[in-house]
Amino acid sequence: MTVQSATAEHQVTLIPGDGIGPEITRVVVRILEATGVKFRWEESLAGAEAYERYKEYIPKELYLSIDRNRVALKGPVTTPIGGGFTSINVTLRKYFELYANFRPIQNLPGLPTHYPGIDLLIIRENTEGEYVGIEHEVVPGVVESIKIITAKASTRIAEFAFAYARQHGRKKIHSIHKANIMKMSDGLFLRCARDVAKKYPDIVYGEHLVDNTCMQLVTNPYQYDMLLLENLYGDIISDLCAAFVGGLGLVPGANLGEDCAIFEAVHGSAPDIAGKNIANPTALLQSGVLMLHHIGETDAANRLHRAIEKVYESKQSLTRDVGGTAGTNEFGDAVIAALEN
Ligand code: NAI
Repeated sequence: MTVQSATAEHQVTLIPGDGIGPEITRVVVRILEATGVKFRWEESLAGAEAYERYKEYIPKELYLSIDRNRVALKGPVTTPIGGGFTSINVTLRKYFELYANFRPIQNLPGLPTHYPGIDLLIIRENTEGEYVGIEHEVVPGVVESIKIITAKASTRIAEFAFAYARQHGRKKIHSIHKANIMKMSDGLFLRCARDVAKKYPDIVYGEHLVDNTCMQLVTNPYQYDMLLLENLYGDIISDLCAAFVGGLGLVPGANLGEDCAIFEAVHGSAPDIAGKNIANPTALLQSGVLMLHHIGETDAANRLHRAIEKVYESKQSLTRDVGGTAGTNEFGDAVIAALEN
């Protein structure tokens, strides 16, 4: 991760995204600026709106901006179902080699949950597998979808997970797979993880089938510490795990490469609640906390994290997905007030 001076102005690419994206990014930018950290935001469109304006789903300016700044804060973007353009997320993750998708799942204080004390870390391979959507119609009525798994990407993500575990005192990693059926592809993913695990005898290593993992997670999530998954399994299991701590409105994420990072929530563009000032900006805000750590603004990151906790502890000014009545903007005001106290 890049670390810069804590007094520098940080130039960050800002992608408001679609659906609830613009309204939550607006609030999150306001809160991030209230930490006192200096930002220069380079705003860039992506997706349907970008196409309307530039006839490109990812305008050249966006590539250039991320290339220049090496850090971006991104709202969710809508990806058409069953047709239309290729996912913006997949394209950006591949283009900038953001191979590690990092998703911490932790409870916030004050929120009622069936699962208190959750502290899970999802590490998802971000560049290959069936998730990248290499598909074609062989003949009408027959479609082929190609799943590519490479030793290079599997080893790289396993190395990332084990190195992170050792550096941050995490104890256990489970590879989640379907190698009983996907014998070659998931088999290769597992072999790479096992090879890396041998170099980390201090980290307990386990393997579970992905279907069993769903059941194990719901019955006893506490048996897991870190989950290491291929792209598609990571996508699905992330949403399941978000439910442990209060839902998709809360869980942050980071797409990390060697020297480039895009921070974004786990959730999507939530078109069902867009434009109503009811979306919960916490997930993107917590992604902002991860970003502050990444750019070396540790003090601001810790202050902001504490301010979010205070707002949840007080049970005031919460959005309706977590049982409150406040709007997106009112939640933002409460976090800023908590930052100042
Ligand atoms: P979604 O995550 O947008 O929404 C699922 C459910 O969670 C909805 O009921 C929604 O209202 C709720 N929800 C999500 N975020 C929330 C928030 N911040 N506050 C309160 N409630 C929230 O998933 P869905 O509906 O399956 O996908 C919608 C679109 O988003 C699709 O086009 C999909 O491709 C895209 N998507 C984009 C992602 C990204 O840009 N990183 C990630 C996931 C989906």
